[in-house]
Order: sequence, then C-alpha cells, then structure tokens
Amino acid sequence: MRLQITMVKAATERVYTRRIGALHKAAPGLQVQNAIRWGAPDCKVSSQGPRERDQGQGPISAGETPIPWAEVLMRVEMTQPAQFLAAGDGWPVLSLFSGAGGFDLGFRSAGFLPGLAVDFEPAAVETYKKNHPGTAVDLLDLSKTKPTDLVKRWKAVMGSKGPRGIIGGPPCQAFSISNVHQRTGDPRYKLLPRYAGIIEAFASELGLDFFVFENVPGLIQVRHQRRYKLFKARCDAAGFRVSEKVVDAGNFGIPQHRRRLIIVGINKKRFPDLKLEVPEGDEEPLTTRAALTGMPEPTYARKGLKANEVPFHPNHVAMVPRSSKFTNGQLAPGDRRGRSFRVLEWDSPSYTVAYGHREVHIHPDRHRRLSVYEAMVLQGFPEWYELKGTLSQQIQLVSDALPPPLGQGIAQTISVALCYKPESANGTGGRQERVANQVG
Ligand SMILES: C[S@@+](CC[C@H](N)C(=O)[O-])C[C@H]1O[C@@H](n2cnc3c(N)ncnc32)[C@H](O)[C@@H]1O
Repeated sequence: MRLQITMVKAATERVYTRRIGALHKAAPGLQVQNAIRWGAPDCKVSSQGPRERDQGQGPISAGETPIPWAEVLMRVEMTQPAQFLAAGDGWPVLSLFSGAGGFDLGFRSAGFLPGLAVDFEPAAVETYKKNHPGTAVDLLDLSKTKPTDLVKRWKAVMGSKGPRGIIGGPPCQAFSISNVHQRTGDPRYKLLPRYAGIIEAFASELGLDFFVFENVPGLIQVRHQRRYKLFKARCDAAGFRVSEKVVDAGNFGIPQHRRRLIIVGINKKRFPDLKLEVPEGDEEPLTTRAALTGMPEPTYARKGLKANEVPFHPNHVAMVPRSSKFTNGQLAPGDRRGRSFRVLEWDSPSYTVAYGHREVHIHPDRHRRLSVYEAMVLQGFPEWYELKGTLSQQIQLVSDALPPPLGQGIAQTISVALCYKPESANGTGGRQERVANQVG
C-alpha cells in the first residue's frame, strides 16, 4: 500500500532535507518514492522520482516563479514492506467505543497497543478480551463517565505515561443516512462533545500526539453540521490540527464498499509543520468470490447451539432460511430493492456490511443469508478472530466494526508521519522513542 503524508511549511530547504532524512531513519525499510516540493525550483531530494512538482505532473518549467520556502508544501509517498511497519512494540493508545476491536486490530497490526479499551456492551467487552488479551477492557458508559475519571483509570492501568493517541468512533446510527428515524434529542449526539472532552482532558493532563475519530459520512450532512463544527472547533482549541476525509475501505483491499468519515487530529505544538493527509488507499476492492469461494456451508442457528458444535469457525453460523424467497426463485443476484433481502453478487464487492434488524445480506447462491464469519471476512477480519455473544449481538458487532485493514492504513500513515520508531531493533519489549522532535 502507498502511504501519503503531507507536511506543511517546510520553512527552509534544510528543514525539508532533515525531514526526509528523519523519515528514512524512522522507517529504514521504506522507500520514499516521491518527495515533492510544490513551487520549489527543483526536486533534488527525491530519491527515485524524476524532477517533479505538483503531484508529480512534470518538472517546473523555466518560466515559472518559485514560491518562497516558507510556503512550500511537501508530499511524501512511500511504498512499504508491511513487515517493517508491523514491527513496532506497542505505542500505547486509548480506545474509546472499542466494540469488536476492528479498529484496534488495525492499529495493533501497525505497531500500536491499546492500553485501555472502553465499551458499554458486555458482548463487545467479552469479544475484546478474547482477541486482545494484553489490553485492559472496561465496561463503562462513556456518557456517564467524567473525562477526568477516565484519565485516572488510564493512570491506574498504564502509569503516568500518557497514550500516544486516542482512537475510536462513537455509535454511528444517530448520524447514519440510512437511519430514517433520526431524532433531535437522541442521547447519542452527546457522545460527540463527550469525545471532545476526553481529548481535552488527556491532552492537558498527560499530553497527546494525535487522535483518530471515525464515523459515517452522514455526520457531515447539513443537519449535523452545527454539532460537527463544534466538535472540530473544540479539537482545534485543544491544540489539534484536524484533517478529514471520507474514504472507502474497499480501497484498502477488502471485499466490500464501505464509506467512512475519518478525522485525524495532530498536536500542533508537538508537530508544528505537519498536516497529515488521511490515506485513501490504492487497492482494488476484492470480489465476493475471492473472499468466500471454498468456504464450507455454515451451521444454522438453533437454541442451545454451543461454539464447539460448530465446525470450521465458531462464528460460521447463519440464520435458518425460513422465507419462501430462498426457494421460489424470486431472488436475483445483485438485487438490492428494500433492505431486507439484498443479494450479493459473486463478481462484485459486497455492499456495506451493516445489518440493522438482523437483515444480513444474502449469499450469492441465494439459498440463505451470510454467516457471521462470512460477514467478518467481508470486513477484513483474520480467521483467528472470534466474536462473542448471541447471534444478534455478533451481527451487531460485525456491522459496527471498522475494517482492520483500514485501521492499519491509518495507523501506518500516523506512525510514519510522526516518525515513531521502535527502540529495539527486534521489536520486542522496551520503550518507544519519538524522533520527530529531532527534526524541523
Ligand atoms: C461504531 S461501534 C465501534 C466499532 C469499533 N471501533 C470496531 O472497530 O469494532 C460503537 C461502539 O460504541 C459503543 N457505545 C455506544 N454508546 C456507548 C456509551 N455510551 N459508552 C460506551 N460505549 C458505547 C457500542 O456498544 C459500540 O460497540
């Protein structure tokens, strides 16, 4: 995958050159493909690319006037061997609304380690404990937890060293376009200012490099604009430069189209010349065929079914296909009329995995709905991952999850942009050190 990092205000050529050097030092396995100085007279720092400017669209011609260094923007594009970026040994993060832990798994794959995770659903907490045994998980209602109490809880678990970042997205149903019952007094709206309050508390008491907030693109709808603007204004006032983008998780190589709003805040004081560009991903979404071919038939759900009675994978359980539509030939591949009977196509990526009211999408062979495990595969979970709780709870957990490959792409961009560096070469144990302060 290609990483894109934008840095602003490389005030002098020396700063620029040192930054590129620091990136190489922080990530020796990476190859800087293009380092572009917009408006600068040439691009001699580029290690491989030609003399380029303005997103690689050709050399600066003789007649063009270079702009002053103080206004020069940098963009660095990198291709990376994944194993280097996975070798970090645990830059700590706080995980809010951790759910099934999909977002967290992505961060872990990029070298971060959630020190404390919080959710108020018992099935989410149980699932998290099962898959992330090294992390403390609290069953807490964040709407009722004071931000300062969360700081105390972090200190009790992790000591006085703060998290590098905060990650997580509050429940999106209140902002979802597909939720036709949006209410002005929905208590979930309060979770947005609460999230801002937690960022403020951690930034002022323990220090914080970054936060990543994810949600549905519906949050930028006109009707939520006031809330959203207030949220961003508070983050800005708390000292964070905010970048945002709606991205499709399919571009991170999963077999699904899933648009998500990603907001990244970077501490302005600690990283004065960095404006992070939210990565868009550059992979082709896989097809349903590539993801599900060869999968054995699942077990049908029944009362009292135990996990050890389910072969292949404990979540490979599907609802019993009771409707006559599964046998009378009415269902056509790609049919997406209505919400209840959406049929997947073998040669396309899945529609967004979001199954309200257990309206799980229908298998491309049209004889049943998908199993929970098949939905997990469409979300990019690895095969060892396991969801806990009842079938309905598992359907909710998989629907809510942020695809781990998207989380990983965001996390990698952050760790490289902030020049995080594992202290030990073999990536085991030890403190992480940040080299960003040595540059710029
Ligand atoms: C969008 S999901 C998170 C998905 C998760 N990031 C993942 O990748 O798997 C939102 C989560 O917020 C939790 N939640 C909702 N309201 C909450 C509250 N007041 N306090 C704590 N957790 C809450 C829900 O239980 C749900 O698991």
